Amino acid sequence: MRTLPITIAPSILACDFARIGEEVRRAEEAGADWLHVDVMDGHFVPNLTIGPPVVEAIARVAKAPLDVHLMITDPWTYGPQFAKAGAHVLTFHVEVAATPAKARELAAHFRAHGVRKVGVSLNPDTPLERVLPFLDAVDLVLVMSVFPGFGGQKFLPAVLQKTAGLREHGFDGHVEMDGGLNAETIPGCASAGCDAFVSGSALFGASDMRSTLARFRELARVAREGRTHDR
Ligand code: DX5
Ligand code: ZN
Repeated sequence: MRTLPITIAPSILACDFARIGEEVRRAEEAGADWLHVDVMDGHFVPNLTIGPPVVEAIARVAKAPLDVHLMITDPWTYGPQFAKAGAHVLTFHVEVAATPAKARELAAHFRAHGVRKVGVSLNPDTPLERVLPFLDAVDLVLVMSVFPGFGGQKFLPAVLQKTAGLREHGFDGHVEMDGGLNAETIPGCASAGCDAFVSGSALFGASDMRSTLARFRELARVAREGRTHDR
């Protein structure tokens, strides 16, 4: 199975929104590989965040690819708008797709609007079986390790089974973990097969984002190597 480079994606949900351009630069200077953008509609999750015009403004100043996480009930209508706004990775939640066939259609719909990488996400209480029938249609699986809606929550370790399960099923795309990631929780995710790591409060709240991000990358690398050697 191919080994993907480790990707660290600071979540701008935890940044100072009054200074968003500077915060984007700060994350990039700290070594961000992707910028994670949390889109919430006040319906799929009990919180409202940002829409296409703000993503478009971020895309204008960002050099790193935008990893846009749609926590919204209607990705069919709004997905294309986020694609146009500059999403490089565009991820929908499987809970809003009634059937695997619908999920496939949605992935194709995103691609038809120019999305480079299509992702599917699943909530902590959604079984892995929901995404298995259409894994060939996506480039990324975003495993939620907190219930979506807010930053700064505690990591739920039970979801690591899903990450490992994806690799056992031969999925060789990106496996991204999101929620409660920090120096304590990242090694377990990397050992379970994650290559992409979202972090909001632990990175934007760090006194030195650059050294914290470098430490996260190193912890992931070491944990992943340990896993390779075990085999
Ligand atoms: C939660 C979001 C996460 C969140 C992560 O709904 O999807 O991306 O910003 O924040 P931390 O790292 O603070 O848990
Ligand atoms: Zn997210």
